[in-house]
Amino acid sequence: MRNDERQRQLDTLLLNFQALWHPQPFRELRPAWCEQWPALAAELLALPEAEVAALNDNSAAGLYLLARHLPEVAEIAALADVPACATRPLPAIRAFWDREVPGRKRAQIEAFAAAAGGKGEPVLDWCGGKGHLGRLLALAWQVPVHSLDFDAQLCEDGRALAQRVGVEQHFIHADALQVDAWPQPGQHAVALHACGELHRRLIQHGAASGVAGLDVAPCCYYRGVATHYQPLSGELSLSLTRDDTRLAVTETVTANGRETRQRDQGLAWKLGFDAYRRQFGDGHYQSFKPVPERWLRMPFADFMQQMSERENLPPLSSSVAHEFEANGWQRRHEVMSLSIARHAFRRALEVWLALDLAVYLENQGYSVRLGRFCERALTPRNLLLSARRD
Ligand SMILES: C[S@@+](CC[C@H](N)C(=O)[O-])C[C@H]1O[C@@H](n2cnc3c(N)ncnc32)[C@H](O)[C@@H]1O
Repeated sequence: MRNDERQRQLDTLLLNFQALWHPQPFRELRPAWCEQWPALAAELLALPEAEVAALNDNSAAGLYLLARHLPEVAEIAALADVPACATRPLPAIRAFWDREVPGRKRAQIEAFAAAAGGKGEPVLDWCGGKGHLGRLLALAWQVPVHSLDFDAQLCEDGRALAQRVGVEQHFIHADALQVDAWPQPGQHAVALHACGELHRRLIQHGAASGVAGLDVAPCCYYRGVATHYQPLSGELSLSLTRDDTRLAVTETVTANGRETRQRDQGLAWKLGFDAYRRQFGDGHYQSFKPVPERWLRMPFADFMQQMSERENLPPLSSSVAHEFEANGWQRRHEVMSLSIARHAFRRALEVWLALDLAVYLENQGYSVRLGRFCERALTPRNLLLSARRD
């Protein structure tokens, strides 16, 4: 299917189901969709804890469950299912290119390089950090590489690593959002996990300056978004708030057991505080500043005391603190259960955002493929846009 066709269909369907993914169950005791689709809400609220956790973590399984109640959702699942990229095996590389590259990062870089496929043009490694990707490409493709980053120390470290393996890799210490001299015409620009505005800038300036090709694995689409995401590809029906844009990239695959327990407790305690606070206002959610980590390691009653003081509420008697703690844990389960509906759309929203970039590049005369360059377990930000203007 053509990218613009996939984009148009996804745009319409995501808009149709906005009631499911836009409201945040943390803020709303019962999102309005619970009344519209009571059987779905009842099914989610009755799920056991282990299934709630598994479904929150797996958009495809979440969409599958929703589709039993709302058959049109199955079309979203198909549109969000991006195929794996075609790959070319990397040539055998001299040893030690990967010195000081953490294992997971090394595997991401190798997968990216195998899927990107250069055609001999000089490479620009955008927001390249220490230039690990650029160094591998210089070796694998035998082309000169420029790596650009605004962190002087990373550039310095990268220079030393490049020298050690003897590759032609130059480092440009510059702010990607300000620089005009890069990218340059005829280059092949690559960007692995350049956040939000950084990858959008590369795509827009790369196209304007006439790069021959781009390979971009976007991440953190919400960075640089003030209130609403501004599509690059033209008019679309859907308008994403910054929070919606963030929803696209909130899942992690790296949390261990301890981190999961801490995250669960943090959520339960904040909801316990929310229950207390609702008694004093109009009963609605009011946002609060981030909670310092150390407050979450105190006994619950002390946590409530700190929060109440900061948020100008009367102190909570420690004799009833346990009631709010229990309430917080109860609501945590409900919030996570109802969040399955919201989280099911994460990948579809991410694909919508990536298609906006793809269609923009097509409008600028590139042919563009959107694929998965690695498995999700290696990084959930595994979409790769490969654009060529031949
Ligand atoms: C998530 S890291 C990715 C680094 C590298 N591409 C990789 O995959 O290992 C993002 C990089 O963007 C750089 N960066 C952030 N803001 C920047 C800016 N305004 N200009 C240039 N580089 C920037 C950071 O220093 C960091 O090295």
